[in-house]
Amino acid sequence: MNSFKRKRILVTGGAGFVGSHLCRRLLDDGQDVLCVDNLYTGNKDNIVDLLDHPYFEFLRHDVTLPLFVEVDQIYNLACPASPVHYQAAPIQTTKTSIMGALNMLGLARRTNSRIFQASTSEVYGDPHIHPQHEGYWGNVNPIGLRSCYDEGKRCAETLFFDYQRELDVDIKVGRIFNTYGPNMHPDDGRVVSNFIIQALLNKPITIYGDGQQTRSFCYVSDLVEAFVRFMETPKGFTGPVNLGNPGEFTIKQLAEMVIELTGSSSELSFKPLPSDDPTQRCPDISLASRELGWQPEIQLREGLQKTISYFDQLLAEGRYKMD
Ligand SMILES: NC(=O)c1ccc[n+]([C@@H]2O[C@H](COP(=O)([O-])OP(=O)(O)OC[C@H]3O[C@@H](n4cnc5c(N)ncnc54)[C@H](O)[C@@H]3O)[C@@H](O)[C@H]2O)c1
Repeated sequence: MNSFKRKRILVTGGAGFVGSHLCRRLLDDGQDVLCVDNLYTGNKDNIVDLLDHPYFEFLRHDVTLPLFVEVDQIYNLACPASPVHYQAAPIQTTKTSIMGALNMLGLARRTNSRIFQASTSEVYGDPHIHPQHEGYWGNVNPIGLRSCYDEGKRCAETLFFDYQRELDVDIKVGRIFNTYGPNMHPDDGRVVSNFIIQALLNKPITIYGDGQQTRSFCYVSDLVEAFVRFMETPKGFTGPVNLGNPGEFTIKQLAEMVIELTGSSSELSFKPLPSDDPTQRCPDISLASRELGWQPEIQLREGLQKTISYFDQLLAEGRYKMD
């Protein structure tokens, strides 16, 4: 006999880049998905194909306000993730992280739901150790331009662990490293989307600094797989767990790969490095490999090809125009 029971799953930030992939994955798994988003950086285009799905609902709502719904699980992703967007409204970013966490934790407590928090590698700030493991406490500037995001996410983690210790809420905290893929915002200033758009338009590719700073890049389907596996781990396994791809590339290598894959005539253009930009960021994912039996499978070249096709289509359909 089939004992599968459809779960009612809330995804906050579900109309954003990662959230839209997560909603799709959960529906594919047969779950009943409630996507909550205020569409600050999210876009209905990311979920338009889901709106007619019988087990998908979209609710326009701001997580800084309380939400009363009946659910079995919560994935709390609501928060602008790109510096351009979170720095445009820094107070709202801190409110979203902290009040959003409080409201969702309150909901998890009332409904006795398991709750996943989309935290970030930014909690490590400009790290002194490489690669970063979960025991590292970080090196974060509390008053800089990135602090609304970094400190907001750090405080959200604090709230998650205090709800667990004090109120026995069933929490899972994932620290996400750079992720890329279709549905990324074309103008969010993140390196992968920037480079792809510039290359597709044969414009100069802007590199901040000398391009020797390294980043790791995780393809979105790998990340979503980790979320779902983490959610299924036993109660008490809380994390934090690093989720990302440990393969390190310099920014210059990324630019060169994008130029090659798009067949672009773009040249590299070097600009000064913004303040608080980390020089190296790489996850230690041994905990995720051990506890979730997970590791990323999509190679950068393959993921870039899929992402390039997405942006190519966006430009071809006139859904994005560069200023
Ligand atoms: N993409 C990455 O590389 C990355 C890295 C680390 C952490 N994360 C985290 O993962 C989550 C998703 O990131 P993303 O890349 O999909 O970003 P995104 O900006 O595409 O998605 C965030 C979504 O949250 C929504 N949102 C923002 N404020 C809200 C509010 N107050 N109420 C309701 N909805 C709100 C936005 O409209 C958007 O749809 C974020 O919490 C982010 O901090 C992402």
